[in-house]
Amino acid sequence: MTSSTTSRIALVTGANKGVGRAITRQLAELGLTVWLGARDTERGQRAEAELRGLGLDVRFVHLDVTDEASVALAAKHIEQNGGRLDALVNNAGISRPWLAPSETPIGNVRASLETNVVGVVNVTNAMLPLLRRSDAARIVNISSVLGSITAAAENHDPTSVFPDGGFPATLGYTMSKAAVNSLTVHYANELRAEGILVNAVSPNWVPTDANDNTGILTLEQGARMPVRMATLPVGGPTGTFVCSDATGDGVILPW
Ligand SMILES: NC(=O)c1ccc[n+]([C@@H]2O[C@H](COP(=O)([O-])OP(=O)(O)OC[C@H]3O[C@@H](n4cnc5c(N)ncnc54)[C@H](OP(=O)(O)O)[C@@H]3O)[C@@H](O)[C@H]2O)c1
Repeated sequence: MTSSTTSRIALVTGANKGVGRAITRQLAELGLTVWLGARDTERGQRAEAELRGLGLDVRFVHLDVTDEASVALAAKHIEQNGGRLDALVNNAGISRPWLAPSETPIGNVRASLETNVVGVVNVTNAMLPLLRRSDAARIVNISSVLGSITAAAENHDPTSVFPDGGFPATLGYTMSKAAVNSLTVHYANELRAEGILVNAVSPNWVPTDANDNTGILTLEQGARMPVRMATLPVGGPTGTFVCSDATGDGVILPW
């Protein structure tokens, strides 16, 4: 199913820990050269050293998704050291604090949208010239089941796929991931004719610092669908919203 992954080049944002680090590791284990994007140089270089210690071709690049100048510099650095990208994984994200909509400070909403939505547009537009040099470019936008408007709307319906009634609201985060789903479809539509596949992917619920290390899948399991969608063969799906699961096959999520 997966296209040839040797000598291919990927960029993962927010890759110094959590889901991004797991995706970086799995892509590199498939033989890709992976740019490990991180906003903090020390944390990024530490993760780079750990993964290179496993024999993986992982290269740190400084990248704060909210800073246009930082993103432009990262694009320039990648261009000068490889010249193209075959996959972009927009993973960097923030999710705290977990509050009801009526209690959410406006600053929290702004920060969530700035990092999780504007950041994705910022990085995608800056990296598109490099992706257009690939013969099979893929863009993966890391979303969440919490971005599913259908799931939220059916939250109190016992026949829903999410019937537990405990669907957390967390306005800034849920809004931001719904917006990520929306922009994914629009990019997919624009780039379809060029063969660039763009998909929204949830890692499911996996233990990271963002959720006090709770979850129902391991980080490795959660990274599987993002990795699969970043290495899709020609003719693969585009404009979809999928989620990692325990079987490894993944499931399609409702918008
Ligand atoms: N964990 C889950 O169960 C789960 C479920 C669904 C979706 N997700 C999504 O998975 C992605 C990764 O989350 P995670 O759970 O791995 O959380 P995490 O462990 O907190 O990692 C978040 C990463 O994003 C980086 N980041 C935050 N703001 C950034 C910015 N402005 N520029 C560049 N990097 C930035 C962080 O860097 P620092 O280390 O410098 O802070 C960190 O590397 C997010 O998009 C999240 O919404 C996670």
